Amino acid sequence: MHDLAIVGLGPMGQNLARNAANHGLSVGVYNRTTSKMRDFITAHGSEQLQGYATLEELVGALKTPRRVLLMVKAGEVTDLTAEAIGGVLSEGDIMIDGGNSLFRDTIRREAHHRARGVHWFGMGVSGGEEGALRGPSLMPGGEPKVWDALEPLLRVIVAKDFAGGDCVTHLGPDGAGHYVKMVHNGIEYAIMQALAEAYTVMRDGYGLEAEAQEAFFAAVDAGPMGGFLTEISRIITATKDDRGAGWLLDQVLDTAGQKGTGRWTAVEALKLGVDGTLVTAAVNARVSSSDQPGRVARAEQYARQAPDTDTLPAWADTAPTLQTALEGAMLLAYAEGFALLRAAAEAYDWPLDLAEISRIWQGGCIIRSRVLTQWQAGFAAAPQAQPLALPWVVAALRTATPALQTVTALTARAAVSTPVLTGALQRHLAHTTARSGANFLQGLRDHFGAHTYQRLDREGVFHSAWGS
Ligand code: 6PG
Repeated sequence: MHDLAIVGLGPMGQNLARNAANHGLSVGVYNRTTSKMRDFITAHGSEQLQGYATLEELVGALKTPRRVLLMVKAGEVTDLTAEAIGGVLSEGDIMIDGGNSLFRDTIRREAHHRARGVHWFGMGVSGGEEGALRGPSLMPGGEPKVWDALEPLLRVIVAKDFAGGDCVTHLGPDGAGHYVKMVHNGIEYAIMQALAEAYTVMRDGYGLEAEAQEAFFAAVDAGPMGGFLTEISRIITATKDDRGAGWLLDQVLDTAGQKGTGRWTAVEALKLGVDGTLVTAAVNARVSSSDQPGRVARAEQYARQAPDTDTLPAWADTAPTLQTALEGAMLLAYAEGFALLRAAAEAYDWPLDLAEISRIWQGGCIIRSRVLTQWQAGFAAAPQAQPLALPWVVAALRTATPALQTVTALTARAAVSTPVLTGALQRHLAHTTARSGANFLQGLRDHFGAHTYQRLDREGVFHSAWGS
């Protein structure tokens, strides 16, 4: 009898099945297209890893309570698959959704399946194909007793944090796990866009070749924000074209796809009243990238010139400043994500522990970085602190702010689009401005709509006859 079933044999499902089997778990797998299951079993099957052609056979071969991990496309496919599996499961059995599902769908599905006695457990899985095989970061949410039934199994397959702990923790009830995964992806979007902007500064502002770009990313990777995304930034800049001469990145079409998690994060930030400048800028950058023919046409219409590199300071002077600015923007991407998680904990009544979340993101996942040990220590020492109030964050951003000012002034002058670097600076300036211009907005609102305003010099709510 198997410990675990995996339904859906895309690259993630396949690699998680291999990972679990390699670690001694007995795994049964199923795929809607049976030939895919057979191919997989031919390549990787063993006594520990067996395939089934029907859901009935699969479910019949599981230990109770039956634990079925769904690794299928988020959205309708998940609902349809869950209905089919739910039909053959028994009371007390567990379905785990390992896809990038919207947390509201997870809440709905948990209630729906509970009505028929089957547990639904939402779990974010990060790390891509490699992470699935070698150890992902897992972000589970759901009923505590279901977590108890899954915990020993999940601990076997996960990545390790920097102190050797397991990159999994029970995050809270119903949609908490998928929410944390969504925010993880929002941070991922912002960091990736910031890295892409640094690349654009080098390529378009300075006309640097791949070797110099690689050297820059190697320095960032060796610095305080070093992690998976900085490492693969270095790798992709230094990859030769496998289908022609030159560098591979130079032949890649400049339109970025997206599956929705970044957009959900931006929408959630708006809903909860959290400043989501960086993730929103990153999503918008993907949106503008998607209309490549339109951009090419408008570049001509608007007579966009190649950046005037002569007006820029020497690259040797700019490189360390760009690195500090980039590191500041990356730090702000985490800060923005943690601020959203803090607001979500309150709005949805989830016991989100930011120190624990910083810990389980240290291994396996896409945004893993050594800076997460600092976030973990910061939140452990001050669990209720706002991210921007942590002393080490203050120190880092006091250094990064002048660099962001210098770099964004430079990119504005050279006409290089840097929405996340610029957004990071503007977000930070806004959040550290003692007297903002919002008194002006209040004046306008009160003038045209008698919306009233408060005063600095006395208590109360006031309306004035402006202009009289
Ligand atoms: C991960 C990734 C993974 C994927 C996202 C984002 O944590 O392993 O976040 O889930 O990269 O689906 O994909 P898009 O960039 O296509 O939205």
